[in-house]
Amino acid sequence: MDSILVTGNGPLSGQIPIAGAKNACLTLMPATLLSDEPLTLTNAPRLSDIRTMTALLGSLGAEVSTLQDGKVLAMSSHDLTSHTADYDIVRKMRASILVLGPMLARDGQAVVSLPGGCAIGARPVDLHLRALEALGAQMELKDGYVHARAPGGLKGGRIDFPFVSVGATENALMAATLAKGTTVIGNAAREPEIVDLAACLVKMGAQIDGAGTGTITVQGVERLHGATHPVVTDRIELGTYMLAPAICGGEVELLGGRKALVGAFCDKLDEAGIEVTETERGLSVKRREDHVKAVNVTTEPFPGFPTDLQAQMMALLCTADGVSVLEETIFENRFMHAPELMRMGARIDVHGGHATVTGVAQLKGAPVMATDLRASVSLILAGLAAAGDTLVSRVYHLDRGYEHVVGKLRGVGARIERIHAT
Ligand code: UD1
Repeated sequence: MDSILVTGNGPLSGQIPIAGAKNACLTLMPATLLSDEPLTLTNAPRLSDIRTMTALLGSLGAEVSTLQDGKVLAMSSHDLTSHTADYDIVRKMRASILVLGPMLARDGQAVVSLPGGCAIGARPVDLHLRALEALGAQMELKDGYVHARAPGGLKGGRIDFPFVSVGATENALMAATLAKGTTVIGNAAREPEIVDLAACLVKMGAQIDGAGTGTITVQGVERLHGATHPVVTDRIELGTYMLAPAICGGEVELLGGRKALVGAFCDKLDEAGIEVTETERGLSVKRREDHVKAVNVTTEPFPGFPTDLQAQMMALLCTADGVSVLEETIFENRFMHAPELMRMGARIDVHGGHATVTGVAQLKGAPVMATDLRASVSLILAGLAAAGDTLVSRVYHLDRGYEHVVGKLRGVGARIERIHAT
């Protein structure tokens, strides 16, 4: 298994291009199942999760061609040859559940294995199933699979989510585009990835109002047609690399970044003493003073502070002046990076959904282990700030969500290399 060697660094400078959003692409790709005409995505990220979704769609009979070195995905789902999303693929990635709504809406049948994915909590799919039931689907759980049927087609209905779920909102939104009549989705997720999905579906002929607000209204249509759509910028990759100059000093410009994608995160950076400026080509980030101040952070659904940036923010706060409290409200088991950061000399006390971080003057390099996607990149960020070498193992987690992490960080002067397993 490959690992990544990071050596503590001085100030960084230069530019980092930000890719299209993994999480947007993973919901835009299944949207191809809604139409028998081609759907082309541009600005796609080159990631193992995208290859997993490509394999999943291929197993259902869709054709996915990767063009321009993987940045363009040309997809076509003329005929579905299977309606079963198999355990062997689904277990690798939780987002596989997103084929359920589209298959059901198009052909009235779908069988999907219960998903795996990052080990950051129980992560059930009950909200997905309840939302599709509200559109008339019949669900049965058998042998680890969800068997869904809608013999007469889906019918518009009212869905009220008890709490916000990004994936369940996406599944419901895609399914509702082809349901007969009107669907109203209450307590819908408002993430930029939902807005991007809705924009693509509208290009395909769907009638959708309110994406980006808590109530989305969908007027079902007979059929959707082909479209070409650019994937929105990855706000999590953006936020991650914004933290590199915050941790190491220097100034880095994130190409393609916009404050609107990371508003709550920018507010916290500002409080910590990090200056974020909008430029013609993106966002420029530098420290306002030499020291970073401690801040308290609570993760929330968009537009709040994203849970997917909590681990990386913790890496910054490990060397801040004072005591920070991070509260995780989305996933119950998302502090697995804390013990690894502590191996590097961080002072962290995890108690339930809270982590108290007492800043230390300097982290020290150590061998550490990546436990999930965002945790792994937090260890790389911490390594950049540590004295000496940090060896991050199990970096296959990283490959799921960050393209060319080594090249991008080296481009701004970081001392980082990938050690290939022999
Ligand atoms: C998506 C993102 C993930 C991010 C998360 C929250 C993708 C591919 N992944 O995941 O990176 O961390 O949003 O911003 O877009 N829940 C249930 N029942 C359900 C569904 C969810 O209880 O049926 C719970 C989850 O366990 C979690 C909370 O709801 O505690 C929010 O999860 P959700 O927004 O659904 O996350 P994902 O869509 O899986």
